[in-house]
Amino acid sequence: MRVLHTSLVLGAAGLAQSLTPLDTFYPPMLNETSYISNNSLGTYGGIYKAPTNGPTEGKPYGTYDYCSMPHPRAQEYELPAPIANRSTKGKLVYLEYLQRHQRRTPYNILPGGENQPYNCDNVRPYLYAGPSSQSGIQPIPMYAQTYQDPTNPFTPDVNGTCQYPQITVGGIQDGYQHGQDLWNVYGKKLDFIPKEPNDRVWFRSSDSALTQATAGAVLRGIWPAYGGALPLHQMVSSVDTVNEGYSCDAVSSTLSSLESTSEWKDHLSVTAELRSKLGSMLGATSSSWQDTFDHFSDNFQARLCNGYELPCSMTNASACVTHEMANEVFRAGDWEWNYYWRTNPYVVKYIQVVEGLFIGEILARLQAVLNGNSKIDYSHIFIHDGDIGPILGSLGINELRWPAMGSNIAFEIWETDNKHDQLYARVLYSGQPVETIHGKLDWIKLNQLIDIMSPYVPEDITTLCG
Ligand SMILES: *[C@@H]1O[C@H](CO)[C@@H](O)[C@H](O)[C@H]1NC(C)=O
Ligand SMILES: *[C@@H]1O[C@H](CO)[C@@H](O)[C@H](O)[C@H]1NC(C)=O
Ligand SMILES: *[C@@H]1O[C@H](CO)[C@@H](O)[C@H](O)[C@H]1NC(C)=O
Ligand SMILES: *[C@@H]1O[C@H](CO)[C@@H](O)[C@H](O)[C@H]1NC(C)=O
Ligand SMILES: *[C@@H]1O[C@H](CO)[C@@H](O)[C@H](O)[C@H]1NC(C)=O
Repeated sequence: MRVLHTSLVLGAAGLAQSLTPLDTFYPPMLNETSYISNNSLGTYGGIYKAPTNGPTEGKPYGTYDYCSMPHPRAQEYELPAPIANRSTKGKLVYLEYLQRHQRRTPYNILPGGENQPYNCDNVRPYLYAGPSSQSGIQPIPMYAQTYQDPTNPFTPDVNGTCQYPQITVGGIQDGYQHGQDLWNVYGKKLDFIPKEPNDRVWFRSSDSALTQATAGAVLRGIWPAYGGALPLHQMVSSVDTVNEGYSCDAVSSTLSSLESTSEWKDHLSVTAELRSKLGSMLGATSSSWQDTFDHFSDNFQARLCNGYELPCSMTNASACVTHEMANEVFRAGDWEWNYYWRTNPYVVKYIQVVEGLFIGEILARLQAVLNGNSKIDYSHIFIHDGDIGPILGSLGINELRWPAMGSNIAFEIWETDNKHDQLYARVLYSGQPVETIHGKLDWIKLNQLIDIMSPYVPEDITTLCG
């Protein structure tokens, strides 16, 4: 891709640093706890702000944007170098596209209460069921309308008309744009995605309403005129291989091992003052808020990414979370994600137990392409940050920031006229060839890609889970 140079002013100290959009994905010091408390780094070029209505995108194209991550787009998309310079003839034969859902309301409501209502009247989460036969009952398209009843003695910690989490109107609009852009690249430009869904395309989601709602918006962007319904494959929740569906004791035991290391403790000690301030301001002193940055980060980005402000204390309206505090929370969150999926001493086992079965499913589909017996050409799977993270870990991404809203991985398989090695792969992360410890994955033999990811597929998950 074209590398766009830009000069960004970072942080309160006003440190001017020249970062390309690509740089914003790979902060070089992410593995050091001094990264977290260094205020002059600000957001390291990342964007954490979007209006209520979308679509939104980081500018310039390709910048890390928590609210809406970049994705392949026709204006910037480049063919793999050997195809572009015509040294090799080839065509795209398989696309495995994985993405996180688009932006949403938070999972985590502040224990002290939210000083603002969340409004979701502008969204209709549909939920209705009918028989598979076209001639059977056709249900009324019903949608959820959340409301508060004054006679209910239990009052929620947040006012308004949303569920937590739920997709927001901006998330729907971002999803539609995401689909349109994919169509322009993989439909129009590469003539690969069919004009109408056929039996060689395949969709799957987690059991979460967020990923399902995202699928409807993104696929409508791909096929604006399609009149029918489509199957969104799901596994039974209790055995789902995404979104930590199946139960496995080794997931929590490995997590507690990695959260017992000196590096983990160090990241908590450099943020002790911040956590204590936020805890007392927001009533968030319990271990679930204090032991990782997951909840603060989730709560703040949901506000900032949907047109709201950072929160204030419910008991003192002038005690508010500042952007400097939020930026430190986001840096700490990035550090944690890099630690979970790249640098902790138990990382191979952790990826195996959390995501290994799903990685195995991806590899089985790639292997079918290699064997020439794949039944599909295009698979699109709607999942979560907790799935995207370990997959990027298995690829050996150089640095991992929190895989943000709509973050996406495109496994492209190209068939070439090269007699000995016909099939080549490249892996795009949010639109750019992913930079890894194995080099930039922009043109490697398909069997090499399979070799890179294979160690993360457990041989015997039952034994591993204990
Ligand atoms: C990251 O930090 C860990 C622990 O300090 C260290 O062992 C490892 O070599 C570092 N990795 C990189 C890529 O710098
Ligand atoms: C903070 O980051 C800036 C910019 O990268 C760097 O120059 C400075 O040395 C860092 N400070 C500390 C204490 O690490
Ligand atoms: C085409 O691009 C490939 C990959 O960058 C390079 O190895 C090769 O030398 C190029 N060939 C020509 C004819 O430019
Ligand atoms: C919700 O709104 C009601 C009525 O305006 C108000 O009394 C209550 O304090 C609000 N609750 C929160 C958590 O803001
Ligand atoms: C309210 O918060 C402000 C800003 O943090 C602080 O200066 C003030 O003392 C607080 N007021 C009370 C009554 O705690």
